[in-house]
Amino acid sequence: MVAEHSNSVGILKKLRQAAVEADCAWRQHDYDDGSFAGIAENALGHLLPYFSDDAAKELMRSLVVGFPFPQQFDPKSEFGEPAITVARTDRLLLDVYAWLDGAPNIHQHGFDGAFAVLSGSSLHTTFAFKERERCSQHLQFGSLETIGSELLRRGDVRRIDSGAQFIHSLFHLERPSLTVVLRSITAVGAQPQLSYLQPSIAYDPNSPPEKLDKRREIVVLAYSAGWPEADELAHRYSAEADTSSRFTLLRRAQHALPPDCFWQLFDVVIASDKRLERYGRPVFEELFRQDNLLLRRKDIVESDHRFFLALLINATSWSDIQAHLKRLFPDAEPAQLISNWVSILASGPTPKASPLGVALDANAMRVFDIMLKHRRPDAVVEQLKVEYNSNDVERQAPAIAELCVSFQNSPVFAPLFRDVA
Ligand SMILES: [Fe+2]
Repeated sequence: MVAEHSNSVGILKKLRQAAVEADCAWRQHDYDDGSFAGIAENALGHLLPYFSDDAAKELMRSLVVGFPFPQQFDPKSEFGEPAITVARTDRLLLDVYAWLDGAPNIHQHGFDGAFAVLSGSSLHTTFAFKERERCSQHLQFGSLETIGSELLRRGDVRRIDSGAQFIHSLFHLERPSLTVVLRSITAVGAQPQLSYLQPSIAYDPNSPPEKLDKRREIVVLAYSAGWPEADELAHRYSAEADTSSRFTLLRRAQHALPPDCFWQLFDVVIASDKRLERYGRPVFEELFRQDNLLLRRKDIVESDHRFFLALLINATSWSDIQAHLKRLFPDAEPAQLISNWVSILASGPTPKASPLGVALDANAMRVFDIMLKHRRPDAVVEQLKVEYNSNDVERQAPAIAELCVSFQNSPVFAPLFRDVA
């Protein structure tokens, strides 16, 4: 139970005091990297009585006027909206991060520490990466598997262990959500700090080609502007580039280009790189799927509907989705909840007019409901035979099965019909 406490100066002082005390405690362990996550977890745990939504707001207000900022670790707020270093010593930082719109950012850490939810809530997912092929320390191919997911609320604290032993994503649900991170500045042997893309790529977002290669910008410009020689430029770039640079070009292009234009570039780039084709194609399909849902989520205001879209963006399987819904809505049947939400979000005369970008009429909605419960197209047909004229259903069985398969393959609904993560 977290007590309400509205004294912002109190929490600010406490945060800074906690950083100093954590440094002292760490010194007792000779600043050993392996000891710091436990120390940070303990230090944030002691701050919980000062956490409240009011205190979070007051903290942000007090940071605007008169607070002498320490040297900022992330002055451009590249991670956080904004990211604010509230306290620092020679060896550690205490940062406050605000978040407006969630985004699945799966990463490991080049430091040890702990984080706590100060305000709002977050969908927290942990992963393991099995490396299959290594291009370099900056790019690896393999499989990213979900270990578990949970809903974190104000006052929840989790430790951060550096390196591949702790890979996670936090999808922030409220606008804003605030987190506090107490962390070492860096952990020896935990570099580079890799990010991950579902389902198969680990990459270093700060590797030299990511930052320095301007040639890829010209290739993306050629596609953005519709130049006739765009394919030729992409071909020449790819022929001289290594796999990391080709991947970086595609990553940049995925942000900048519409899907049809991107896939035209993709086909040119992977013509000479079968490994990138095999591992990259599902990654970029998933990125476009997530981007579509993230964009749609911005226009949805009802909190349950926003949570449903957060699940569609982040959850990897039906069992994962069911577990979250059972925790949040213990008295409701998950399939029924989803049916209610989809009947609202997939309504409209055309897909364009529907919040989900999918329009289901009453018949399609009934098939969707049964598919959600019975999981297999043939079981859907059997159930419909019970409800309607059996001969009529039999005649329409191929079309019904096709509709079921389209749900399973739908970029929007696919996670609902994926039984194994
Ligand atoms: Fe993290």
